[in-house]
Amino acid sequence: MFSAPTLSAGWPASVLLSKAASYLTQAASDALMKTESDGVSLLEYGPVEGLSTFREVLAAYLSKEYQDDVHVDSHSYYIFNRNDLFITCGATYGLYLLATLFFHSGDMVFMEEASYHRVATILGDELKLQVIPVSMDKCGILTEDLKKVVEKTLSTVPRKPASSLQSFRAMLYLIPIFHNPTGICLSHERCREVIDIARKNDLLVVCDDVYNLLSYTDEKYPRLFSYDKKDDPDYQGNVVSVGTFSKIFGPGIRVGWLEGPQCVLSYLKTWSACCQRSNNLSLFLLEFLNVHVYTQCSLSSSGSPNHCMSGILERAIGLGLQHQLLTEARAFYKRNMSAMCQVLEKSLPPSVKFTKPKGGYFVWITMPKHVCAEDVVQLCDKEYGVVVNAGHILVLILTHPCWF
Ligand SMILES: Cc1ncc(COP(=O)(O)O)c(C=O)c1O
Repeated sequence: MFSAPTLSAGWPASVLLSKAASYLTQAASDALMKTESDGVSLLEYGPVEGLSTFREVLAAYLSKEYQDDVHVDSHSYYIFNRNDLFITCGATYGLYLLATLFFHSGDMVFMEEASYHRVATILGDELKLQVIPVSMDKCGILTEDLKKVVEKTLSTVPRKPASSLQSFRAMLYLIPIFHNPTGICLSHERCREVIDIARKNDLLVVCDDVYNLLSYTDEKYPRLFSYDKKDDPDYQGNVVSVGTFSKIFGPGIRVGWLEGPQCVLSYLKTWSACCQRSNNLSLFLLEFLNVHVYTQCSLSSSGSPNHCMSGILERAIGLGLQHQLLTEARAFYKRNMSAMCQVLEKSLPPSVKFTKPKGGYFVWITMPKHVCAEDVVQLCDKEYGVVVNAGHILVLILTHPCWF
């Protein structure tokens, strides 16, 4: 029987998840059964920043897919090591760690006016940060507006001394590539401007890079992290790239990563270690810095939050299964994206505009002013059994009623 698709959630297609299940079975049996000691060590507690062999394999894999170096180097002398990856249990957890370790309730977070709806809830409603929307157009966040709003709102927030442990004054949360919910990408020029604004205003730019690898053309979309160049004279390390296997393998496995500058990753590692040692000094420091109690608990229990699954994914990458799955996913979603855009092109009147994303999951449709999106959502559901979202649940404030 034909069942109409649910287009309202950014979930991987079930046909890809069933492939992922069979790849996972193969990788798990290889990782756990190859030698007895492999299985045993993966079922032990793991290092807090993630299994070193997994981080190396992941770095090599991402370097190939991004066509840009991701640094993990555990072999050279410690002081020369550059380890840019910290393993998490998904993008949401990575974002949560950054938000709770570097910021406190009342601190400011700037974000695109339309964004992943869960983030505004987590940062604003749950962690009580002040969410400040910034307008956007078809090239992403409007940097001119961002500069103005950042300078105005932070004019009363004093700069922290460079030696301060939590030296960022505010967070800028962005989805620069194949944005949820519009599908657009931040332009090259704006990427450079964002870095400039972040450096001048001590912002921590958290890039939700969860769709970057789902690109359906040969065009290259460098992550914002790569614009924050270490050899720039004003480099401070302002950008973190938040990644996940949720969209390229399956959300149930709960494995993700943070790719960040040393100032951020060492801080994460230090606090993780502090949370694990519940001696008086550690407890005093945690309290002094007001580290969120849930963060303390989640970091304190057991080292790496997904040690065993990391070992299995390491094998999935090593066996070429992750690459195979990603290739299949790209082909599958590319077909779907192009079918969707063809249908929209054929069926919608010229007064209705829509984005034609070159990757990711989302298409954004802009109706003429007199049409209520909620009515269209109802019509799609009742007449065609197709479930879509009305934009207002994803939009913080819409300053440009017709962007595209
Ligand atoms: C922009 C964005 N970030 C994060 C997530 C969730 O990622 P994870 O499952 O790794 O927490 C989603 C899922 O829809 C998303 O669209």
